[in-house]
Amino acid sequence: MKSRVLSGMQPSGRLHLGNLSGALSNWTKLQETYEGYFFVADWHALSTNYSETTQIKTLTREMVIDWLSAGLDPNKATIFIQSDLPDHAVLHVLLSMITPIPWLERIPTYKEQQEQLEDRDLSTYGFLGYPILQTADVLIYNADFVPVGIDQAPHVELTRAIARRFNSLYKPVFKEPQTLLTEAPKLPGTDGRKMSKSYNNAIYLSDSEKTLREKLRTMVTDPARKRRTDPGDPNICPVFDLHKVYSSTPVIEQVNCECRTAKIGCIDCKQFLAETLVTQLNPVWEKGCAIRKSPAMVDDVVQEGAKRARMTANTTMQKVCKAIGI
Ligand code: TRP
Ligand code: SF4
Repeated sequence: MKSRVLSGMQPSGRLHLGNLSGALSNWTKLQETYEGYFFVADWHALSTNYSETTQIKTLTREMVIDWLSAGLDPNKATIFIQSDLPDHAVLHVLLSMITPIPWLERIPTYKEQQEQLEDRDLSTYGFLGYPILQTADVLIYNADFVPVGIDQAPHVELTRAIARRFNSLYKPVFKEPQTLLTEAPKLPGTDGRKMSKSYNNAIYLSDSEKTLREKLRTMVTDPARKRRTDPGDPNICPVFDLHKVYSSTPVIEQVNCECRTAKIGCIDCKQFLAETLVTQLNPVWEKGCAIRKSPAMVDDVVQEGAKRARMTANTTMQKVCKAIGI
């Protein structure tokens, strides 16, 4: 029997290169050796975006399209949408009965997000209970591993604590899942800051080749390299950071050397990068195109995924209800 991995993503926007090289490439690798469960966490998105929900359905669907374009395979993994599985909410309510509020309040993201998103009122019950919902997502499938970034590690710790508490209060129903830490390369956006949807500096999987080239053309470089004849320093250039992630070793070495001697200019350097990225994104673009031509396929994937997920979830819920005695 294969071990099971489970992970989710909030439908907060189109996927960019940072997501592709972080979580998504990790998932597409994991689906080869594990039994993968991957879902769009649309209820989680409500915890911070409850007042602006017009986009959520479209974004959920587009997220699935991006996943499939990037190589997530419905024949290998179970791909579904959280809100298609009401049992997550049932388990959430049951787990909320046994979770002490201080466990939730001391999770770092709770205060951090409240401070960062100060334009929103996050003094809601749903926002506080967000990690219990995440716990329900994981425990309902008895996942062995949860691949997440370091920011999500405290949530998996909470999941383990709640599983232990449930098992000792009632009967041993839940496995304690382990964190599978995702190594995400440091990826700068076009302005040199961390690539992020909220900084408006991201290169999206769904960008056209033309847009991609244009974004690279205007990307910031070593600010001291003003003229073509000035030597540059790749170590402080965000374009070089992208080269290091995507280009082949000879190209990286060439850039590293010829930038310092002003043998190549930034226009040449960015052109090399554009060629590499176009080559790597071409299959993703082609797949995206094919999917958009037969939109019913996306519905089939998530319906089939929900069907499979439901079977596992139902089995767990029966055990849970029996253990509690309801
Ligand atoms: N909270 C996660 C995030 O924002 C998304 C998520 C929801 C998740 N449920 C999950 C991740 C279950 C792993 C397992 O990135
Ligand atoms: Fe950056 Fe390349 Fe220009 Fe050097 S040549 S400063 S690495 S863009």
